[in-house]
Amino acid sequence: MSAYPPISEHLDDVASARAEGRRKMEWAAQHMPIMERVREEFREEKPLEGETIGMAMHVEAKTAILVETLADGGADVAVTGCNPLSTHDDVSAALDAHESITSYAKRGVGDEAYYEAIEAVIAHEPTITVDDGMDLVAAIHEDHPELIDGIVGGAEETTTGVHRLRAMDEDGALEYPVFAVNDTPMKRLFDNVHGTGESSLASIAMTTNLSWAGKDVVVAGFGYCGKGVARKAAGQNANVIVTEVEPRRALEAHMEGYDVMPMAEAAEMGDVFLTTTGNRDVIVEEHFEKMDDGVVLANAGHFDIEIDLEALAELAVDRYEAREGVDAYELEDGRRLNVVAEGRLVNLAAPVSLGHPVEVMDQSFGVQAVCVRELLECAHAETYEPGVHDVPDELDREIAEIKLAAEGVEYDSLTESQREYMDSWDHGT
Ligand code: NAI
Repeated sequence: MSAYPPISEHLDDVASARAEGRRKMEWAAQHMPIMERVREEFREEKPLEGETIGMAMHVEAKTAILVETLADGGADVAVTGCNPLSTHDDVSAALDAHESITSYAKRGVGDEAYYEAIEAVIAHEPTITVDDGMDLVAAIHEDHPELIDGIVGGAEETTTGVHRLRAMDEDGALEYPVFAVNDTPMKRLFDNVHGTGESSLASIAMTTNLSWAGKDVVVAGFGYCGKGVARKAAGQNANVIVTEVEPRRALEAHMEGYDVMPMAEAAEMGDVFLTTTGNRDVIVEEHFEKMDDGVVLANAGHFDIEIDLEALAELAVDRYEAREGVDAYELEDGRRLNVVAEGRLVNLAAPVSLGHPVEVMDQSFGVQAVCVRELLECAHAETYEPGVHDVPDELDREIAEIKLAAEGVEYDSLTESQREYMDSWDHGT
């Protein structure tokens, strides 16, 4: 086993951290009816008995419920963070107290410790990986290929991770099956849209204590996350400007009534800039040069590469903490450009951030849990070849049905004749 210590060995007062972490988890669990149902099933049927699950995810209260659900299903779980700023140490400590869970996640670690923690998870020799951003899959393929034969499969939570996996698959380099959990309707129509929209705006407002009303808010990228951010910002009376590189998405934003323009123009107009592209170098030096004094810059994409902070640091003559979670970069002409959460995904990495709302993560993690179950159920049949796989639609529907039942929402079913009609091709007018 790795020498890198679990969280419990890092903390001075482990007992109080565990108690606080447990309190946060209990709050989350109260609002996660899907996970409650899945957990009951896992406790009774132990579908993951004998498996070792390696996880690299944002370790906070909602994720902790997924981690415990997998452990309740019979697995040993080793978990670490997927971003150095999103871990809640108290939650990590509460997880680490579980006899079947080892948590290495610790907030604020540097690059070296971050990757050592990933290695520590891999040292448990996982038979299943659950990733948010593909760090585990990458490290296993690059540095521990000897483990691949023993791995049943994996599940990936976010858009950037799925993009990376698909690129790997196209190169023929992905050697075990991984479910693209991100791409299911139950995940991205809710988590990316509502979750990112609500929690990014809330985190920025809480961190800056500034209002959205009357602001010019530039949203870079009009994908699932960008649509949510744009809609919620407009709902808070901001004037939304969208930048895009994909013509249909740019047109969609235009038809939704937002202003659409290149970043080079938007840079002159925005009060707040929020990147949601999953791409790099979206806001760069030429844009900083045009921005007004006092603008707020934040990123909701997975990696901290959307805003070119190196270029900003070079332009700046001074840099200081303007508020907790806000770094002001002061330029030669006196303008101050304020970066929230070091340009890391703002809804998880700002000091006040809590990540997505609980209900949203209940859905995403419900899909994760049934994907892990599916991998094991189908392992012997070798149903899933190495590569990226769409999550079977019936699993996604299963999660939707549990959620609707929990919400007390009833809905129609197709009649026999409707089903027949929908399945046929020979009924004309
Ligand atoms: P998406 O693929 O649906 O949308 C990205 C959009 O950005 C696309 O429309 C693309 O054309 C556009 N784009 C790419 N380069 C651009 C550029 N240079 N300028 C303007 N637009 C550009 O992806 P989705 O699902 O919206 O995810 C975006 C990012 O957010 C990913 O990194 C994903 O992993 C991350 N994510 C973050 C979450 C959070 O909690 N903060 C939650 C879910 C996803």
